[in-house]
Amino acid sequence: MILLDGKQTASDIKDEIAVKVKELKAAGKKAPHLAAVIVGDNGASITYVNAKVKACEKVGFDSTLIKLPETITEEELLSKIEELNNDDNIDGFIVQLPLPKHIDELKVTLAISPLKDVDGFHPESLGRMVLDLPGFLPATPYGIVQLLDRYNIETSGKDCVVIGRSHIVGSPMSILMARNNKVGNCTVTLTHSRTQNLADITRRADIIIVALGKPEFLTGDMVKDGAVVVDVGITRVADETKKSGFRLLGDVDFASVSPKCSHITPVPGGVGPMTIASLMMNTLQAIEMK
Ligand code: GUN
Repeated sequence: MILLDGKQTASDIKDEIAVKVKELKAAGKKAPHLAAVIVGDNGASITYVNAKVKACEKVGFDSTLIKLPETITEEELLSKIEELNNDDNIDGFIVQLPLPKHIDELKVTLAISPLKDVDGFHPESLGRMVLDLPGFLPATPYGIVQLLDRYNIETSGKDCVVIGRSHIVGSPMSILMARNNKVGNCTVTLTHSRTQNLADITRRADIIIVALGKPEFLTGDMVKDGAVVVDVGITRVADETKKSGFRLLGDVDFASVSPKCSHITPVPGGVGPMTIASLMMNTLQAIEMK
């Protein structure tokens, strides 16, 4: 069993981006500038956004962190987004999800200029992906594609099962794995809460991508020998033995699944760092698209 080391792969990608940023600066151009908007004080979201800002420092990007209170109105957030859309100094920006319940996430996604949509969540970005046009790919699925590519995982003609149909992971992931691309050309099955006989479906899969947010959902009896398993889940569960008071669990029961796999991502250190590396790749692309 080979661990798909997202931490190391993301670090390699960030090193490559850092070289490109140095070249840009040497040519008298400015460094890409990413802004991240966070609303409220969700602990996990703060950790993720801080990691994104830290990654900007590592690759030599400029970054701006915009912290807004939980009580901000939808209108105020939309006007902040408009400001960022019109700010020539900002090349790309993200609004960290989830947002408080009184704010419509779809309205926020639609308000972000497709030219600065480095999360790849806007319908124009998703449409471009479906049509194989250049554009921003959604950060987590893009990161998974990069990870499979850099480990030379053969995907062509393989049976890929995606568990979970979220707009930001499962659904775009299923499209990327079916594309006519080096990583792609799979026969994809997108499964969800209404899927019947899920274990029968996953047991046939060469590649399983699990993104439903249920800790240790995929167990060893659901996986065939030699499968490649990608775990997108990262849930905080209370653990008094930890200083933080919690530990992180993926959607895969690593103990029973990993012995059967040819390759598997760990949690943490698998998909999470790759999402951030993809965000850096998209931000570099934002200035190239200008
Ligand atoms: N929440 C969970 N994943 C993501 C992501 O990739 N981007 C944003 N903006 N919010 C998220």
